Parts: sequence; structure tokens; C-alpha cells
Amino acid sequence: MTQSRFDTVPVRAKMPFVGRDAQLALLVDAYEQVATHGASRIVSIVGDAGMGKSRLLYEFLRGLAGKDVLALNGGSAPYGSGAAYRPGIRILHQYFNIADADDAQAIQQKVAGRIVALSGGTASAVFPILALLNALPADNPFHRLPNKEKRQHVSDALLWLGQRLTTERAMVLAYEDLQWVTADTQELAGAAGARASAEDAAAVLTYRSDHDASSLMTPDTIEARLDGLEPSATRALITELLGDDRSLDALKDELPERSGGNPLFIEELVRSMIESGDLTGEPGYYRMDSPHEIVEIPRTVRAVLAARIDRLGRTDKHVLQALAAVGDVASVGLLARRARGPGRRDSQIACAGCRPRDCSSSEPRASICRTNSSTR
Ligand SMILES: Nc1ncnc2c1ncn2[C@@H]1O[C@H](COP(=O)(O)OP(=O)(O)OP(=O)(O)O)[C@@H](O)[C@H]1O
Ligand SMILES: [Mg+2]
Repeated sequence: MTQSRFDTVPVRAKMPFVGRDAQLALLVDAYEQVATHGASRIVSIVGDAGMGKSRLLYEFLRGLAGKDVLALNGGSAPYGSGAAYRPGIRILHQYFNIADADDAQAIQQKVAGRIVALSGGTASAVFPILALLNALPADNPFHRLPNKEKRQHVSDALLWLGQRLTTERAMVLAYEDLQWVTADTQELAGAAGARASAEDAAAVLTYRSDHDASSLMTPDTIEARLDGLEPSATRALITELLGDDRSLDALKDELPERSGGNPLFIEELVRSMIESGDLTGEPGYYRMDSPHEIVEIPRTVRAVLAARIDRLGRTDKHVLQALAAVGDVASVGLLARRARGPGRRDSQIACAGCRPRDCSSSEPRASICRTNSSTR
């Protein structure tokens, strides 16, 4: 399994994981159905930015360590890159043990060696997979096939590989951040999903709430929705991080609502309060020397949130900026006046940056937009 950023960032990895028992249980149950009954499951983890989709997946996959399961994780999209990414390629890299430093020849050897060991064909499996990995020699006849045929061969090769692997042991395939993946990877995820519904495999997909993943879903897809943490979980998180000092009481009262239960917000706010000296002490034993209301979100918190927001489309960004200026709640008419610009229609403005349940694009003028608490 690839290293998750939660493995490489010790402070984050030490954050106690709270408030997601029900969602974790859905994932564990799906895995057990696959492992013990040969069933197939697709689980989608859905939530706003920072709600903990990647963390939940990480905790789930961590719990599979040591079990007889092939768990492959496409990883999450790199922050701030804005670029579409290809988790399917990362999954293949993991399975074939391909390192960043490997050249085309090394990749050819690894892929061919493993596929032959699985009794796969050279033309039917090795060539298409090497082509997908950009490691097929330029003079290979595969390159001369029409694009449609190439895509079909790649898809067939991947399906064969998936099928072959699941005959040996249960498989869990994780694709993160579907909202950022390239169109060909969407196809791959779709194929994996279709395969998962036919084999003993679980596909776990994560995406933001406003992403339309309906084309990938089946009627049996299990949804693990992540809303804000319950106030009790937020309090527990703050207590774990900061301790029990009475001077923290006001913060504990205020933060559940202020953060909307968004774990990213909570983490970053606490971190910045420690860095700025508003909180003094040591992990688990902090105090606030001059308890006061948190009136402003510190710059560092804004910067972290902005890095995530940065990957929004242009219209969404404009609307968020307008909302930030206007306040928590705004009529679409007002937003349209603030955010209108070349090529931006009112109906686009109506739904950009708003939580879907708060906003209806069919009636933009009647709508009210409410900022997501994580981006406020
Ligand atoms: N249940 C939780 N308990 C404690 N900390 C959490 C929890 N969920 C998430 N976190 C922390 O909050 C931060 C944001 O979580 P995460 O990166 O998983 O969000 P995300 O939903 O994947 O966001 P994005 O949509 O931007 O990818 C992480 O640092 C993570 O450790
Ligand atoms: Mg994530």
C-alpha cells in the first residue's frame, strides 16, 4: 500500500480519530462481506473539504494491515496542484512495485514478469498496461491501433488483471478525490466499480459533496456520508489535543459551532493558536492565559483552507470571495451582483460554493446561499 500523507506527517497521524464510528463500521462491514462471503461492495465516502474523507479511508486501510487482503490505494490528489490526477496509475505503480526512479526498461521488466507469473498474455495484457504506464517501446505495433481499440484493450487488460487478482484473495481498491481525476481515470474507476460489483472486491471511492458521481454508482452503492462532527466529538477532540484546563471552557463551547464540526478547521485553528501563543503549555496540557472570543480566523488557517479552495473552478472561487465579503448567508441575487463577470451565468453563480442542499439551480433567484463552514 502507498504511504499516505497521514503516515508521513507525524503530528497529523497523532491526531486522535474521533466521531466516525458509524462510517468506519460501514467500511469494515463491506470488507468483511467481501472477505468472508466473496461478496462485492462499492462504498462511497462523501463530504465537504476537510471533513475527513481521506482520514477515514486511512483509518480503514490501516485496520486491514496484516489481513489477507490486497489493498491498493490511489492516494489523494496533491494539495494546491490544481491539476487533474490519475489514481489508477498510482494503483498500478503500487501493484507492480514501480518506483519513481524506474525507467521504461525497468517498468517493462516488472510488468511483464508479474503478468507472465499470473499467466497473462503479452499482447492482451502486457502491451496495454505498459502503454497506460507510458513505458511501451515506440516501435510496438500497439501504438498503431486506432484510439478506440487501444482504450478497449487497456480496459480489457485491467479487468483481466482485477479478476485474476481477486481469485487469490480479497481486494480493496481505493480511489480518492474523484472530483479531480482525469476523464480516463473516471473510466478506469467505473470499470473497477463494475468489476467490484462482479467479483469479490470492494471499491472505496471518495469525493466532495458537490461532485456528481452518479455515473459510477450502482443501486447497491453504500454511502458513508461525512457531515460535521457532533459537538460532543468536537469537544472530545479539543480535550484530547489541549487538555482539561478550565481556561479552555469558552473555546470548547464555541468551537463546535464555529467550526461546523469540520476537523480540518479545528486542527488548523488549534495549531495556529499554539503557534501564536494564545495557547500555552504542551500537548494535552494547554491553557489560555487570556481567554477571549475567537473573533478572527487566523491567516494560517485561511491559507490552508485557501489551498483547498484554490482547486475550485473560477466561478466557484469568485462566489466564495463574494460570500466571504457578504457574510454567512446571502441571496443569490446579491451574490450574482457581486460575482457576475464575463461568461458567468446567474444559475452557475447560484450553485457555486453553496452546499447542494442549500441551493437549487433551477430557482436561482429564490435561493439563499450559505457558506460551507470550512470555507467561511
Ligand atoms: N474524525 C477525525 N478525527 C480527528 N481528526 C480528523 C478526523 N477527520 C479528519 N481529521 C483531520 O482533519 C484534517 C482534514 O481531513 P482530511 O484530509 O481527511 O479531509 P478530506 O475530507 O479528505 O478533505 P479534502 O476534500 O480536501 O480531500 C486531517 O488533518 C485529518 O487528520
Ligand atoms: Mg482528502
